[in-house]
Amino acid sequence: MKIAFLGATKGMGRALARLMAERGDELFLLGRDPADLEKSARDLEVRGAKGTPGSAVCDLEKPDGFAAALDAAEAGLGGLDTVVVTAGLFATQARLEDDVELARRLVTADFSNTVVFCEHARKRLLARRGGTLCVFSSVAGERGRKPVMIYGAAKAGLTRYLEALDHKFHARGLRVVCVKPGFVRTSMTDGLPAPPFAGEPEGVARRVLRAIDRGEPVVYVPGVWRWIMLVIRWLPRFVMRRIEF
Ligand SMILES: NC(=O)c1ccc[n+]([C@@H]2O[C@H](COP(=O)([O-])OP(=O)(O)OC[C@H]3O[C@@H](n4cnc5c(N)ncnc54)[C@H](OP(=O)(O)O)[C@@H]3O)[C@@H](O)[C@H]2O)c1
Repeated sequence: MKIAFLGATKGMGRALARLMAERGDELFLLGRDPADLEKSARDLEVRGAKGTPGSAVCDLEKPDGFAAALDAAEAGLGGLDTVVVTAGLFATQARLEDDVELARRLVTADFSNTVVFCEHARKRLLARRGGTLCVFSSVAGERGRKPVMIYGAAKAGLTRYLEALDHKFHARGLRVVCVKPGFVRTSMTDGLPAPPFAGEPEGVARRVLRAIDRGEPVVYVPGVWRWIMLVIRWLPRFVMRRIEF
């Protein structure tokens, strides 16, 4: 596969990019820090990525650079059949409630700008008669919940967009993979109390790679979160008002 990857420098993105490299996929890295990108590219090369992974700066908070970054990926790879987006911003609900500007930045990056990036990506994939767009949303978008009121709202919007993208362009060859992680131990969740079903990036990466290969439209990781969220979606409002989940 020829893959443009936004967010491979850390966490689940790094674990997924490493698996892709180990099986000989060709990668082009996008991210906000050139030194981190260079380090990740060398790591992936050593692990077996095809050719020498290139990279270009792409900041999720600077949408004016998205088109040029994807153009660089397409040129560097000599084509493009897969785009992966694991980049995202996170902050606790307490911080977001205290800081409206931070809330604006997070909603803009995780919803509006991610949608804009995906629009640039899907146009390029469709111009080549399709391909795969794999984007990390969250179980936080499944229900309005107290601990993730703002982050969850951004991910809910992103999930709906990805669902509609699949409905609209599946017949033209676009495979949209919406990943919904539950709690996974990464730098994003560092310092937060881990719930009983917390996952590890490597396990998530194996499951997501399978979903990409099969073109599965929705994947919960770890898988148990599908059942947890099934219950949560059915809880009545008076229960949601009382619990802290
Ligand atoms: N961990 C969880 O429990 C969990 C649960 C549900 C959903 N998710 C979602 O899963 C995805 C991956 O999460 P993770 O836990 O693997 O996170 P992570 O370890 O914090 O990694 C996040 C990645 O996003 C990149 N990034 C952050 N802000 C960026 C920006 N403005 N422009 C470009 N890249 C940026 C980071 O790059 P830098 O190296 O530059 O910081 C890093 O590569 C995110 O979308 C997250 O919302 C995570």
